Amino acid sequence: MNFEQLIQKRYSCRNYSPDPIEDEIFSKVLEAARLAPTAANRQPFQIIIIKTKNNEDQLMGIYHRDWFVQPPIVLCVCSEPDQGWMRKKYDNQSYAAVDAAIVVDHITLQAADLGLGTCWIGDFNPQAARDFLNLPDDVEPIAFTPLGYPLDEPEPKTRKALEDLIRHDTW
Ligand SMILES: Cc1cc2nc3c(=O)[nH]c(=O)nc-3n(C[C@H](O)[C@H](O)[C@H](O)COP(=O)(O)O)c2cc1C
Repeated sequence: MNFEQLIQKRYSCRNYSPDPIEDEIFSKVLEAARLAPTAANRQPFQIIIIKTKNNEDQLMGIYHRDWFVQPPIVLCVCSEPDQGWMRKKYDNQSYAAVDAAIVVDHITLQAADLGLGTCWIGDFNPQAARDFLNLPDDVEPIAFTPLGYPLDEPEPKTRKALEDLIRHDTW
């Protein structure tokens, strides 16, 4: 599969098999996350690996969908804003959330390449996530994704036309 095909193949999976993920396959997903670029290479993120088994109720309290707890693993990517790069010279803009988002993207693309399904979850209850995952105050949960073998098929991609997304030279 080339990159163009991979971009087409990745989709938001909302039906998962409970089948386990082989260690070797799972390691590749984590390695793709590790290699993600981050601002000034600060790597201000942590990935929490959550086994769904016996954690279904708590996970459903974080994001209430049956399919969220179908696969064997749910990942939570957290940022550590205090560890990340900030654009201090100008406006103190923090890039920690951007860094974490790139990590999630590496995870979703590598997973798709290996035949695994993922789904970005942003609509989670942050306080429920903090409580269950015991997150310190200076750690921010950015996204969850279930991780497992898909049982559904991708829908055709609906996207804006390129001309609605591109401007030339100025806004
Ligand atoms: C930042 C972000 C947050 C998202 N949050 C959710 C979510 O909470 N629940 C959900 O079912 N899908 C969520 N999605 C998935 C999007 O709905 C999906 O990516 C989009 O509709 C395009 O479909 P595709 O991923 O299948 O290409 C999220 C995606 C992104 C990028």
